[in-house]
Amino acid sequence: MQNEIERLSHVNQLILDSVAEGIYGIDLNAKVILWNKAAESLTGYAITDFESDNLHNLIHHTNREGEHIPLQQCPVYHALNSGENLFIKDDIFWRKDGSYFPVEYTANPMIEQGKHVGMVITFRDMTEKKKTDEILLQWEKLSLVGQMAAGVAHEIRNPVTSLKGFFQLMRANKEYNDSYFDIMDSEFNRIESIIKELLMFSKPHESHYTNQKIASLIEEVIMLMEPQALIKNINIATDYDTSSEAMVYCIEHQLKQVFINLIKNALEAMENGGTIVIKVQHINDEFLIQVTDDGAGIPDDVIEKLGEPFYSTKENGTGLGLMVTNNIIKNNHQGAIHVESQLGKGTTFTVRLPNFENM
Ligand SMILES: Nc1ncnc2c1ncn2[C@@H]1O[C@H](COP(=O)(O)OP(=O)(O)OP(=O)(O)O)[C@@H](O)[C@H]1O
Ligand SMILES: [Mg+2]
Repeated sequence: MQNEIERLSHVNQLILDSVAEGIYGIDLNAKVILWNKAAESLTGYAITDFESDNLHNLIHHTNREGEHIPLQQCPVYHALNSGENLFIKDDIFWRKDGSYFPVEYTANPMIEQGKHVGMVITFRDMTEKKKTDEILLQWEKLSLVGQMAAGVAHEIRNPVTSLKGFFQLMRANKEYNDSYFDIMDSEFNRIESIIKELLMFSKPHESHYTNQKIASLIEEVIMLMEPQALIKNINIATDYDTSSEAMVYCIEHQLKQVFINLIKNALEAMENGGTIVIKVQHINDEFLIQVTDDGAGIPDDVIEKLGEPFYSTKENGTGLGLMVTNNIIKNNHQGAIHVESQLGKGTTFTVRLPNFENM
């Protein structure tokens, strides 16, 4: 009997040690009773390190912003007390050497003969996943900048031609008219603001969260997309059911990237001109932003594949637009996105953004 128990516990340990995820178990007093090999190599701690101090104080004491997390505020501690399951997508654990790494983890109650006796926590190092997401985002952004440049160049040519005309007129006549200056001034301003937006969007960004006026953010995106729309005889209209001061907590350049992607898809779906409507609603501290086109619509078999990396029905599409969009909305802004489409009639993409700073 004793031999059999030892053999089984040895087999269990072998299994636990062979997986790539860190796995640990704690009893109801939050004492570590199980700590697998991956947990040891990911954190640098051995199970004996928890004899003198509790686990939370060693691997989970401080958040990314550098704020201390007291044990009473730790979600694992709460799950341990309530016996509920827990899934945390974006957190960090600290290593013994003082560095930290991004983790995703689940905690599940350990039940023995119907009684809750502790928790098992499984965690995964997200460093590589985060790096890939960041690279894809950057790649997609640069491809957007490249495509927008053609539209921007086209758009700037007209005001430049008119400026040149006034300049030549004044040079030939050696006199000027005040009204020339007003027109020239507004042409310069238009060129300046388009170029400014393109530069702002293309420069490398820190991914940090700030409060942004949702209406201004959308207007800035339209500034960038309008040149391409004009070429295709498409009008971009807006419908704000929100104050122009309403703020959304976001990573500015990422949220812009989302709307650029959605508008670009809408433009590409409309072969014969038409209208794209961007509707913004503010309902119970949540924004609903809809991008509606009257283009070709999306067949059901394509809808099923939306958001898969590199899935595109376009000759020159990279098929990254919606994947990156999904990532930004769901993973980085705790929002949601869904699509409704009718073949031959058009498509509406709806983005839901909670103001999660206050959550
Ligand atoms: N508004 C829309 N109307 C019709 N089809 C759409 C619309 N938005 C997306 N799609 C379909 O979804 C596919 C995937 O879109 P996604 O933006 O991910 O990639 P893409 O536009 O093909 O390429 P990329 O955006 O990387 O240049 C498109 O190829 C297209 O078939
Ligand atoms: Mg696209």
